[in-house]
Amino acid sequence: MATKTTENTNTAASASNSASTGAVSTADKKMKVDNASVDGDEMKNSSLHKFFVSSLKDIYFAENAIIEALEKMQQAATTEELKDAFEDHQLQTKKHVSRLEKVFKLIDESPEEKQCEAIKGIIKEGEEIIKSTQEGSMTRDAALIIAAQKVEHYEIATYGGLAQLAITMGHDKVADLLEKTLQEEEDTDYNLTEIAETFINFDAEQED
Ligand SMILES: [Fe+2]
Ligand SMILES: [Fe+2]
Repeated sequence: MATKTTENTNTAASASNSASTGAVSTADKKMKVDNASVDGDEMKNSSLHKFFVSSLKDIYFAENAIIEALEKMQQAATTEELKDAFEDHQLQTKKHVSRLEKVFKLIDESPEEKQCEAIKGIIKEGEEIIKSTQEGSMTRDAALIIAAQKVEHYEIATYGGLAQLAITMGHDKVADLLEKTLQEEEDTDYNLTEIAETFINFDAEQED
């Protein structure tokens, strides 16, 4: 792993079932941008601001889609451990939606959903896993964990990048909210790894 630390929240963790990116340390970065110019109108017209808002709409759509997907994954899961993990993260995901609504408000934009083809594809893959694995099997849980981690890594990449942009643009409160969600996505990714490696992968390997 590279020793470069200043940008590591811009990337998702590198491997499936791996621990996620390093902790977010923003204090230093914020110091650097304290005197960034935040002229309202000028900023709103900038290409970067437009990209930022468009990306927020994209992840706002994604989070809402994930709430539904987690419901299906929870119902399809075999073990109580995985069902509970999906249920807990569904509750967190509802918080992610309301945090995004706060973010839109802070930058004086309205919360709108922009269709996100990437998350639709990742969710579809999860649905195909449900169809192609046997109900009640551990193989299904092992596969569902990987599908869920793909969702988390998409979110980690998005929130990591957007939190950094928010800092650069001087939106410190927005950055704090995005980082809170980023931390929860990283924790979820880590918990899923733990569940897989504690027993689900081993039990799945014993199945025909
Ligand atoms: Fe989320
Ligand atoms: Fe998530």
